[in-house]
Amino acid sequence: MLQEKNLLLCVSGGIAAFKAAALTSKLVQEGANVRVIMTESAKEFITPLTFQALSRQPVYDCTFVEPNPEKIAHIDLADWADVVVVVPATANIMAKLASGIADDMLTTTLLATKAPIFIAPAMNVNMYNHPAVQKNMKILQEYGYVFIDSEDGFLACGWTGKGRLAEPEQIIHALNELFIPIDNVFEGKHIVITAGPTQENIDPVRFFTNYSSGKMGYALANAAKKKGAKVTLISGPVQLPPPVGVNVISILTAQEMYEAVLKIYDEADVVIKSAAVADYRPKEIFDQKRKKQPGVWKIEMERTIDILKTLGEKKNKQILVGFAAESEHLERYALEKLEKKNLDLIVANNISVEGAGFKGDTNIVTIFTKDKQKYEYPQLSKEEVAIKILEEIQAFIERNKLV
Ligand SMILES: Cc1cc2nc3c(=O)[nH]c(=O)nc-3n(C[C@H](O)[C@H](O)[C@H](O)COP(=O)(O)O)c2cc1C
Repeated sequence: MLQEKNLLLCVSGGIAAFKAAALTSKLVQEGANVRVIMTESAKEFITPLTFQALSRQPVYDCTFVEPNPEKIAHIDLADWADVVVVVPATANIMAKLASGIADDMLTTTLLATKAPIFIAPAMNVNMYNHPAVQKNMKILQEYGYVFIDSEDGFLACGWTGKGRLAEPEQIIHALNELFIPIDNVFEGKHIVITAGPTQENIDPVRFFTNYSSGKMGYALANAAKKKGAKVTLISGPVQLPPPVGVNVISILTAQEMYEAVLKIYDEADVVIKSAAVADYRPKEIFDQKRKKQPGVWKIEMERTIDILKTLGEKKNKQILVGFAAESEHLERYALEKLEKKNLDLIVANNISVEGAGFKGDTNIVTIFTKDKQKYEYPQLSKEEVAIKILEEIQAFIERNKLV
């Protein structure tokens, strides 16, 4: 999968830097075009000449060396890369990336690139477990960096524990995964997916939400990307890493979800509304934390805007897909919703059945379509369900000649 892919390998200054040389050699053997950036510290551990010889390309180590006056090297490299991988990633480099510091060739290029970035950390176990390092890794995950996690084992520093660089084979496997398209049936199509719960504030410390994990929507985004689509994922607050190569828009409230979806609705070809959007929100949001008081606290709730209904009304070319999470009369409620909201497909699941619903890793769904088809599936992983949903959307498009 890496054949002819432009791969930017960034080496920072850890003891495991020597393993980046073995990785370079393997990547070149896989057919990738490899270019290497090194930090000043990395050069303390291994020479640029090693990477130059293995990659057959000049090595970049200084932002201010500009051999080609027609180009700015770090922007050129940032734009050239199909994928970037930082091997090994030091605690220091992750801290810089997490706070947006751009004071050398590596960090400047990484801030400038739009390519997916993989990070393979390596360090002493106590460094790895330090709250600052953990926090920086979390920030980077939120920014969409994909971690190839360190392994447990004997460390060069003499300690045993987590912090060992992932093996080159594992890094190559992770990179390969990125480029595996399932097929390209959605090439040229823009698929918008909503995921996760919304959060409706009561006061600065309290809110209403629901149990949606976002897993179904994230699985859909991953699968749609691998089927060649341009994917926008509009997500409520979830504990999931952003899918690679997907544009993620984070929202909190139903109103923010509504505004985000409406903004890109016209350019969408398919909209899949898998988010569990609040139907009600507190009528009044208190500016200050409400103090404890004797007696009952009654909170008056008002309806949030019905996003799916609005999308159904405004529909022109879009294929609109909704979800129906029901605890009884699944088929009847799903078909009513399909018609009332002007949907093309509806994915119904009975949330009272074990193995289906919001929180878990599996789902049991039935898909109903506007042209009166019904497809029942057994319990499947959410990744498998995502593929089935996309296949049914594609079949619906073909049956109805909507290409
Ligand atoms: C022998 C030695 C080994 C080191 N190994 C690591 C390491 O594995 N991981 C790490 O985060 N830092 C390690 N460091 C510290 C980094 O080299 C140091 O934080 C440096 O500033 C990193 O610079 P860079 O992130 O710009 O490459 C090591 C330092 C020395 C002297």
